[in-house]
Parts: sequence; C-alpha cells; structure tokens
Amino acid sequence: MTEPKRYLITAALPYANGPVHIGHLAGCYLPADTYVRYLRALGKDVVFICGSDEHGVPITIKAKKEGVSPQQVVDKYHQIMQDAFRDFGIDFSFYGRTSSTVHHQTAAEFFKNLYENKVFVEEVTRQYFDVEAGQFLADRYITGTCPRCGNPSAYGDQCEKCGTSLNPTDLINPKSALSGNTPVLKETKNWFLPMGEIQQSEAFQSYIKRFENWKSNIKGQCASWLNEGLQSRAMTRDLDWGVPVPVEGAEGKVLYVWFDAPIGYISATKEYFDSLGKPEEWKTYWQNEETSLIHFIGKDNIVFHAIIFPMMLMTHGGYNLPVNVPANEFLNLEGDKISTSRNWAVWLHEYLMDFPGRQDELRYVLTAISPETKDSEFTWKDYQTRVNSELVSIFGNFVNRVAVLIHKYYEGLVPDSPGLIDEKLVAANAVLERDIRQSVTKMNDLLDQVRLRDAQAEWINIARAGNKFLADTEPWKLIKTDPESVKTLLFNALQVCSKLAIGASVFLPKTAERLFNMFGLNNRSWNMLDEEVLVHSGQRIQTPEILYKPVEDGEIETQLNRLAEIKKVQESVPQKATLHELKPAITYEDFDKIDLRVGRVLEAERVPKADKLLKLTVDLGFEKRTILSGIAEYYQPDELVGKLVTVVANLAPRKIRGIESQGMLLMAGNDFGKLYSVSPEKDIEPGSVVK
Ligand code: 2FM
Ligand code: ZN
Repeated sequence: MTEPKRYLITAALPYANGPVHIGHLAGCYLPADTYVRYLRALGKDVVFICGSDEHGVPITIKAKKEGVSPQQVVDKYHQIMQDAFRDFGIDFSFYGRTSSTVHHQTAAEFFKNLYENKVFVEEVTRQYFDVEAGQFLADRYITGTCPRCGNPSAYGDQCEKCGTSLNPTDLINPKSALSGNTPVLKETKNWFLPMGEIQQSEAFQSYIKRFENWKSNIKGQCASWLNEGLQSRAMTRDLDWGVPVPVEGAEGKVLYVWFDAPIGYISATKEYFDSLGKPEEWKTYWQNEETSLIHFIGKDNIVFHAIIFPMMLMTHGGYNLPVNVPANEFLNLEGDKISTSRNWAVWLHEYLMDFPGRQDELRYVLTAISPETKDSEFTWKDYQTRVNSELVSIFGNFVNRVAVLIHKYYEGLVPDSPGLIDEKLVAANAVLERDIRQSVTKMNDLLDQVRLRDAQAEWINIARAGNKFLADTEPWKLIKTDPESVKTLLFNALQVCSKLAIGASVFLPKTAERLFNMFGLNNRSWNMLDEEVLVHSGQRIQTPEILYKPVEDGEIETQLNRLAEIKKVQESVPQKATLHELKPAITYEDFDKIDLRVGRVLEAERVPKADKLLKLTVDLGFEKRTILSGIAEYYQPDELVGKLVTVVANLAPRKIRGIESQGMLLMAGNDFGKLYSVSPEKDIEPGSVVK
C-alpha cells in the first residue's frame, strides 16, 4: 500500500448522557489519541475528530429521568465530557456536537442526497404507539417479556439478560415506558436503507476485501452479519428529538440516530476547517483518495462503522471509505461489567479529584491492560502495582537517577563524552545500544499496527535497559576511580532518557512535557529515536523532579471502599422478579384435583438442626395437621401463630427430617427476598375451600 498523504482519525461520538468513565477511555479515546500522537510525532498530516452524540433515545431517556429537557441534558454533559477529554490529554483537532447547526444541515443534506438518488425504500409498517402519550415508541421505550428467556424487562430492541436482539413486536405483554400502558400498533411510513441489496453491489463487495487486514474481532463480527444476509433498516424514526427528516410527508419524524451520528464526523471536520478560515478544506480529508480514514470505536459500534456508515458513504458517492476500524473489546471493573446506570465505574472527573495531576498514571495502566483483542479487567490493586513497580520503579527511577547524578557531579551541565576504554564498560554500553535499538524498532512496528499495549511495553523496556546499564556500570562507585568514563556513561544514559521522553509523548503526554522541559529537548520528532545524540554536552538540565508519587495502600482502600458501598446500595435495591417460564397448560380437571383449604396456624416452632424449616400445627377445621414448611428464614415462629394460611390439603404426606409433613403451605415470592404466605383477605373459617 502506498503511504497515505494525510490521515483523518475519528473516535466514536459518545452519547451526551453521562460523564466519561475508564471504559470509554480505554475502549476508544485513549487508543485513538495515542495513535494520533504517534502520527503527529512522525510529522504526518492528521486531523483528529470527535464530538458529542446528542440525539437518540439515550438522551431522551436521561432527560425524562432527570426531569429536564433533552437540550439541558446535552448541554450539561457535552461540557463535562469535553472537559474530561481535555484533562486526560485527548488532543482532538476538533470536538463538535450533533446539535450544531452545521451538523443539522450536513445530516439533512446527506439524507436528501440519498433520497433524491432513490437509495431509500419507503415502507409503511406497523409500529407501537402510546395513545396516552400521543407518540410512537422507540424500541427502547417498549419493555416486555423476552420470548426467549422470560426476562420481564426486555427492551424492544434487545433482551439484556439473554442478549437476543429483538423487534418490539416480539415482546410478550409489551408496555410503554412513557405511560406504562399497553401500546397499540399503528401504521407509519419510514425510509429504509436496503442493506441486503447494497450488500450485493460490486462496490460493497470490493470494499469488504479490506476486512482481510483488520483485527479479527471486527472481521468475525462482520462476517457473521454478512453471512446471515443484511436486512433493510429504517433510517428515520417517529420521534421529536433529532434532525428533522428533510422531505415532504415526514413531519414529526427525525433521522435515525445511527444515520446522523457518523455524519457528525463530517460536520465536525467542516466546523474545524471553518474555524481555521478554510471552509473548503474538509473535502480534502473526506474526499481525496490520498487521505486514510480510520475509525476508532468500541466493539458495540462495529456494524455501524464497518458496514452501515460505509454503505451510506458509498451510496452518496464521492467519499472515502475507512481503511481501518480498530475496535476494542470491553473493559470490566473489579469483576463486573462497567455500567453507568448501576454507577459501577471509575469516572474520570472523580479520579482526578482523588488523584489530582495523576492523569498519566491512569493512561499508562489503561494502555497496559487495553482490551485490544479481548475483554480485560481494571482492578485498583493492579493499578497500584503497575504504577508503583513499572512507572515509579522502572521508568521514574531511571530518569531520576540519571538527572540526580548529572546534577551531583556536573552541577546540571551535560558532560562531554570522552569515550570508554574499560572492556566491561564497553560491553555494557554495547548491550545498552543493542537493547534500545531493538526496543525502538519493535515499538515502531507495533505502533504502525495499532498494537498500542505491546508498544507501550517496549517503551518501558527502554527504561529497563537503562536501569540494567546503570546497575552493570555503577557510575556512583566508578566516580572515585575513573571519572572520565563516568562522563560518557551518564552522557549515554541521558540520551536514553531523552528517547524515553520522545516515546512518552505518545503514551504519557504530561510526563513527556515535563521531561522535554527538564532536558531542554527542542526537537521532539519521532525520528530523533534513531539519532545518537539528542541532548548535547554543555546543555543545562533542570533540577530533577520526582515524576510519580507511589500509590499508597490507603488510596486503594478508599477506592475499594467506595465500590463496596456502591455494591451494597445495588444489593439493597429490590431487584425485579425473574419471570419463570410458564408451565405447560393444564385442564380445569387437572387443577380440580388439588384440594386447597384455609387453615389457621396454632403452633409454630423451629426444627432443630434445620435452618430453613418450621414445624407448624395447622387447624383445618375438620382436623389438625403437622406441616413442615421451609420458611424459617422469612418468618419468626411467633409471627405465624394465629395466622390464616392456604394449605394443599390432599398432598400425600412425606417425611422430612424424621417428621411426617401432612400438607403444604402456599407461599408467594421470587428467587430472592422474602416469601409471603398466601392468605385470605378476610378472616374466614378454617377448612374453607380455596378454588
Ligand atoms: O455508542 C455510542 O456511544 C454512540 N453514541 C457512538 C456513535 S459513534 C458515531 F457514529 F458517531
Ligand atoms: Zn431474553
């Protein structure tokens, strides 16, 4: 492949419905930023685009929950997200928002273009409508029972319990999330992208050849979609929050959020070049074939970026298609899925309150555990270990020792390098040079392949080699006997520090900035990694400063306690009952075989050595029965005495723990929490029939 002339890098537009957490950062923004920093250090022409996704049901749901308007939601979170990205050094060329006028125009024009080119298929379908709320219901606004697993809280587009993707009409007993009422089906017209047809086109078939070189997680997901055969998908929705559909007869409809959001990349690029006073320049980045378009995303966005958006670009014509879509898998937190709604996350703004100024530490750890090929896990213990034993002990320690020794022996002036004679020193120096060369080569290869986790590991290996060099040559001892050699040793070690600073500029921007200042490094280009001398004799280096504070046990404990609190709250919130699958139908005759009677509990006591059992004496009017019931966890014996209960009176007796139980009490409950006795509403004669 010929070298591209320029790059357009995008990072998925996050929904403006909550603050940013470590899962977002690790999934897409940190890898994108790292790669962009690498390209920039190489001197490439790069535009890096992102922005807030301000439409779609996630926004309207949040607005409803907070009791404010969708606009208020997006205004609030757009700012919070933009600040968090800036604080963590995510260096977008432009961070836009899809509520902007430029975006509304761009998305509307794009739709109109496809509409006029007769790309869409108009179709009248029956969609759920909430009569009381007077509106059609987006998939997420309909809940009901999953036909597959019985989960009573499945959404109209997906059951989050069993993962099945659903249509709203698949749900059993659908309910509107707006009013709680049962919605009705009503006809409505929408515009569909005929994806099955486009899939057959020559252009698409030729485009998907690119997948061959993409990461296997993307390839796999796309192959499974394509093998199943793509279905048409509506690109318009009956909602009032979004970009209005710009054609006649579409009043009250907006563009599907997944139609408008990726166009947000285009509109943000336009706004960027508008702000630079070059309003036509965006075209060079979207339409000139010498530009490489790369989308960084999380795995839940794969189909939209690898298939649907390219289909949109292709049917519009004139646009570049992505040359790569590096998608990351998910990051988990302390053994559980990160979840905004369950507050199971490490929020970036909260992290900064607890660890002020320590952004690079989090960047380092998140890249070290980046879910590049499979889901990975953030734990606070591991965070502490990686910061303390890698950043502090290997990298920070090496840089600090070199700077301290140069200050101690030469008052901060870089010594000259008269050379080495001693064989042992010469050999140690050769090992150092070889190790650095190897690590730099590997790091470059890995960065080219967007394998950032391994690339960062090679970067830290450079510091490892530096530490080994100091340990092998011991300049602090040698200073007494061979001060001339020490000059060369420290001169060389300082060059390694400078290379580490350049490497750090892609992974740890704040650290790099401090090192550049400390060493007075002006040329920060990546090519300097191939040079022998980056800092010259006679140059002054600043007083060494400690780069990182070790993470204390107490700091980790605070974080773990916070998470434990959240778990506690979660567990105390009543969970929704799981709906058990309905048993096969029975006839009335089957039911009539069961003799249910009202009984009154006369005595109740615990059964020794059986935690769950109570032994009850129940008056059935015509006789007294001994009944064992597994309810000791839910009732104190005293509570039951005098209570009316429902008894299966003709259940064959059976022995439990040596005691004959002559019937069974009816209890209501789910798989957790309390069991409640099923009792008549009013006081009634024991022995009365339940029917
Ligand atoms: O999953 C999300 O958070 C979406 N808002 C991503 C959109 S990416 C792009 F299409 F804009
Ligand atoms: Zn299900």
